[in-house]
Amino acid sequence: MLGYCPGQFGGLGCGPEAQRDKRVAEATSRGEAPICPKYLLPPLKRSAPEPAAPAAASEAGKEAGKEADGAQEPPTKKQKRQRGQNKKSERSGNVAAFRAVKMSQLCSKLAYLNSCEDADEAAKGTKGRFCKFCKPDTDIAAVLAAKPPPIGDSCPVLKAWGVCPSGLNCRFDGHIVDGKNVDACGAVLTADSDWAKKLPHVGHRKGELNVFDYSLVRHLRQKTYDFDRSAATNKDWQRYVSGATDKPIGTLCDVERLPLDFSGKTILAPLTTVGNLPFRRLCVKLGVDVTVGEMALSGSIVDGAPSDLSLLRRHETEKCFGVQVAGGDIEVMTKVAQFIDEKVDCDFVDINCGCPLDELHRKGAGSKLMGNEKKLQGVVRCMSAVLKTKPLTVKIRTAHYEDQKTKLLEYQGRVAHTLVPQLEDWGASAVTLHGRTARQRYTKMADWDYVKTVSKARTLGTPFAACGDVFTWEQAMEHRNDHGVDGVMIGRGALIKPWIFTEIKEQRHWDISANERFDLMRDFCHYGLEHWGSDARGVENTRRFLLEWLSFSCRYVPIGLLEVMPPKINWRPRPYVGRSDLETKLGSPNSADWVDISEMFLGKVPDGFSFTPKHKSNSYERPQDSAAPAQSREDAFTEQG
Ligand SMILES: Cc1cc2nc3c(=O)[nH]c(=O)nc-3n(C[C@H](O)[C@H](O)[C@H](O)COP(=O)(O)O)c2cc1C
Ligand SMILES: [Zn+2]
Ligand SMILES: [Zn+2]
Repeated sequence: MLGYCPGQFGGLGCGPEAQRDKRVAEATSRGEAPICPKYLLPPLKRSAPEPAAPAAASEAGKEAGKEADGAQEPPTKKQKRQRGQNKKSERSGNVAAFRAVKMSQLCSKLAYLNSCEDADEAAKGTKGRFCKFCKPDTDIAAVLAAKPPPIGDSCPVLKAWGVCPSGLNCRFDGHIVDGKNVDACGAVLTADSDWAKKLPHVGHRKGELNVFDYSLVRHLRQKTYDFDRSAATNKDWQRYVSGATDKPIGTLCDVERLPLDFSGKTILAPLTTVGNLPFRRLCVKLGVDVTVGEMALSGSIVDGAPSDLSLLRRHETEKCFGVQVAGGDIEVMTKVAQFIDEKVDCDFVDINCGCPLDELHRKGAGSKLMGNEKKLQGVVRCMSAVLKTKPLTVKIRTAHYEDQKTKLLEYQGRVAHTLVPQLEDWGASAVTLHGRTARQRYTKMADWDYVKTVSKARTLGTPFAACGDVFTWEQAMEHRNDHGVDGVMIGRGALIKPWIFTEIKEQRHWDISANERFDLMRDFCHYGLEHWGSDARGVENTRRFLLEWLSFSCRYVPIGLLEVMPPKINWRPRPYVGRSDLETKLGSPNSADWVDISEMFLGKVPDGFSFTPKHKSNSYERPQDSAAPAQSREDAFTEQG
């Protein structure tokens, strides 16, 4: 094993090799990262007074101490609740804070193009319809004068795009001249400028695809979208299941489907909330080959719900991009496939057969779908039949839940190996496997030997990718070489250290500096401001998603502090100090430190703001606490559930 901490080559504090090996064995047997002693803070005793810690580390140390101690015992009910989603009072506090912030903003059209035609027309009496966001006789100068001080003097969106659609509402400086929004050349924006054609309003984002215009959304909402093709496919399926015909639908030989190539590729796993477009852009920059959007609910897409439609957005830098849909109804899943086939720019459509969320299970969706073979066949065949050119992929687990009766048999109730040849037959162009059952969540390590069994069970050589605990380039190589996967999919590893994609590409360990990590966070914020906007609301959205990501990234233990390599995803750190104050701060499990970090990029949080991560990724719990089905979309993927 390759040691990284300089101490082990004779420096102070680490001692001879035998002692180091003992320390490493002890730490790893407790599930702790083997951090070189000179970086470790003394363990905290619950009742003892707090130890003197370096200033920057004190808060981090306190919290991490709690985590490390707490990991030995199951949490009380109260602790569990506190680590959950924002409490009701916190949520309403945040909502009130954001509402106050938003209320002080100008109509977005007026803010961007310096005039709002609806308001102007109404004022002239020609149109008779006020813009509901324009207040009559708005004193623009007074609104601008009342704005809080800018977060920074150069607007990142203006810098990236040459224009800032948030305009007069922007929280950054640099494009408001004499009370008017100007572009990067200093030209005042008007309803006639070229920018108004290129980016008609704030909802259009430069470089983003799958922005649907309102008339299309209205067709979905009013149920006037033409789903005849889906209806015909469902009829064919009915005839096939009833035995009226023996011509199956959906098989690959029926269609002109483009092949999907996962070979040698890295794939960013679909990640609800945290796998948002700005984060995916960051991973693309760091070398990921394939990206997948967050899980969207088929019913919500077909009903035209803006929140789920927005999950289909793609950034132009995502060279191979898939959208993921969940659902347990054959007709609705067929419709969603048709809609994506016709209106969505993507390289593949993925069926979620892995989500452990109770709410989805009640609809027969998520991992429950892989437990219902007949329905799954209907979903795969019908979606496959309506997708003319876009490949269909299926993301499964080793099983929905292990069957207690078969648990002692050869495959312990796991079924993926029997399912995969069928998925190939029904029309799947690729399969991805998460090497655990839904019940297991993250409590056991993924079983890569079983992944290999599943890979071998393929009969048509369908592209195959798998995920589970990948954290180093060596693991990625091993899975490709020894476990029969074409592509390696990475979820939490990418959240903790998105540069894992660079490491895999370059086959090296990157002892990334705190400043480099900080720069990546800045990149994320800039991408976030482009995506969510740089007005007060966009800034707060960017902050919220940054904080969600920081709740994972704080788990990264700099490899330069480790006594042995390579690191493991499930090692938790004891309280430590980094090589700089910033490194210490970035490793803090305390959400107050994450908020501080967010303020370095996004300015002060609004009054009354508080944050508790949705995914609770920073907590470590005992396996037995995780078996129940998850209760919320975010809960479904926490490590404690
Ligand atoms: C925060 C989070 C969100 C997730 N969201 C989804 C999702 O929307 N769809 C899905 O199929 N899997 C989702 N997963 C599961 C991952 O895609 C992946 O299968 C799993 O985390 C195992 O890979 P890993 O060990 O590399 O994290 C999520 C996982 C996490 C941690
Ligand atoms: Zn207006
Ligand atoms: Zn701006």
